[in-house]
Amino acid sequence: MVDSTEEKRLEGRKLLLGVTGSIAAYKAAELIRLCKKAGAEVQVLMTPDAARFITPLTLGTLSEREVLSEIFPDNEQGSWTKHVSLGLWADLFVVAPATAQTLAKMAYGFSDSMLTATALAARCPMLVCPAMDHDMYLHPATQANLERLRAFGYAVMAPGYGELASGLVGHGRMPEPEEIFGRIVEMVTAPLRPSSGGLLAGKHVLVSAGPTREPIDPVRVVTNHSSGSMGYAIAEAAAGHGARVTLVSGPTALDTPHGVDRIDVTTAEEMHAAVQAHRDANLVIMAAAVADYTPLDPAPSKLKKQDDELTIRLRRTPDILAELGAHKRPEQMLVGFAMETDDGLANARRKLEAKNLDWIVLNNVNEEGAGFGPGTNRVTLIHRSGHTEDLPLMPKRDVAEALLNRILGIAG
Ligand code: PMT
Repeated sequence: MVDSTEEKRLEGRKLLLGVTGSIAAYKAAELIRLCKKAGAEVQVLMTPDAARFITPLTLGTLSEREVLSEIFPDNEQGSWTKHVSLGLWADLFVVAPATAQTLAKMAYGFSDSMLTATALAARCPMLVCPAMDHDMYLHPATQANLERLRAFGYAVMAPGYGELASGLVGHGRMPEPEEIFGRIVEMVTAPLRPSSGGLLAGKHVLVSAGPTREPIDPVRVVTNHSSGSMGYAIAEAAAGHGARVTLVSGPTALDTPHGVDRIDVTTAEEMHAAVQAHRDANLVIMAAAVADYTPLDPAPSKLKKQDDELTIRLRRTPDILAELGAHKRPEQMLVGFAMETDDGLANARRKLEAKNLDWIVLNNVNEEGAGFGPGTNRVTLIHRSGHTEDLPLMPKRDVAEALLNRILGIAG
């Protein structure tokens, strides 16, 4: 969890906080407090309904700015372009809580309040934190609206699971203010900023995928169960966001995703060479399961069955990611994966440190549907700031999308 007291992480940053008519509106007070304490300027925009849940006086006092609600305030003349100037002023626009109604309005470009009009005018990244009842959240209309917002490049923070205001238990709880604060910090400090033509337009993304095969003799290998699906899904998602994607792939049965440059390799040494040749990439994501050891002296011809026991001596392969980490450029992002059977979090964090990574993705391999193979994965994302996020069990394509969105700090 991010600790706002450590330093002024948001010093000089300008935030718009949109608050809508949800029972979770009270959490906006704590969010404002965290952001102000971290040095941010916060301008609150409330929908008229939000005032039924928390008073503008409370949020105005905490933010030390007048809370804005109506686009045409009764008592003010000549200030109706405020939504435009605020949209240009902000470094980030956060809507928390975001009701189904406001999400729908934002998805379809309504501008009937200061909040929705400013959202249309804003040039800064957007973060929305849905809060609503379980069935409203899962309704295809809401999901389609969220999909639309994601396609615009909006960050969407997945709501939590738990007891809801209706008394039902399900998805729809707004994330806690500390979690939203952590995301805000990531978003305003992310070194990769989106550019027009796709979130990753103009960026070179290097992805590794699949297993390596280390020869014992001409017909036998040391390998693992990686199918390549996770890395291929990431490559496909990155290409979909406009990146130039190089996919360094160990042996898999998968088709090359559309718009991706694929380089086939077999051994860890070959993968090392291919990755090194593209180390200029802005973003490197190593999803490959690289063999840590390779037979020291592969036999030139097929080993014959002789004794009951056979000893094969192995030697270490190059640690491709650690080498990139040792020469990491300031604007470059490095992301690793961790496959652990014990002490997952601790081991993943150790790898993140040792390899000088920005993010590490821990596969929760002990859980059904996670780890190797096509289909689904359940991962924990760990940022070098210490911020940790568990993602639910999802298709690998969705995991890829969520991962890229977090890395970019602009969508979830
Ligand atoms: O391919 P799938 O079937 O879809 O499965 C996906 C996956 C489980 C293989 C993938 O999500 C994954 O976890 N890949 C990394 C597994 C792993 O080998 O982790 P590791 O803890 O050994 O390595 C840590 C990181 O260092 C990884 O990013 C790895 O690519 C990298 N590494 C490891 C060894 C090495 N010699 N060089 C490396 O760069």
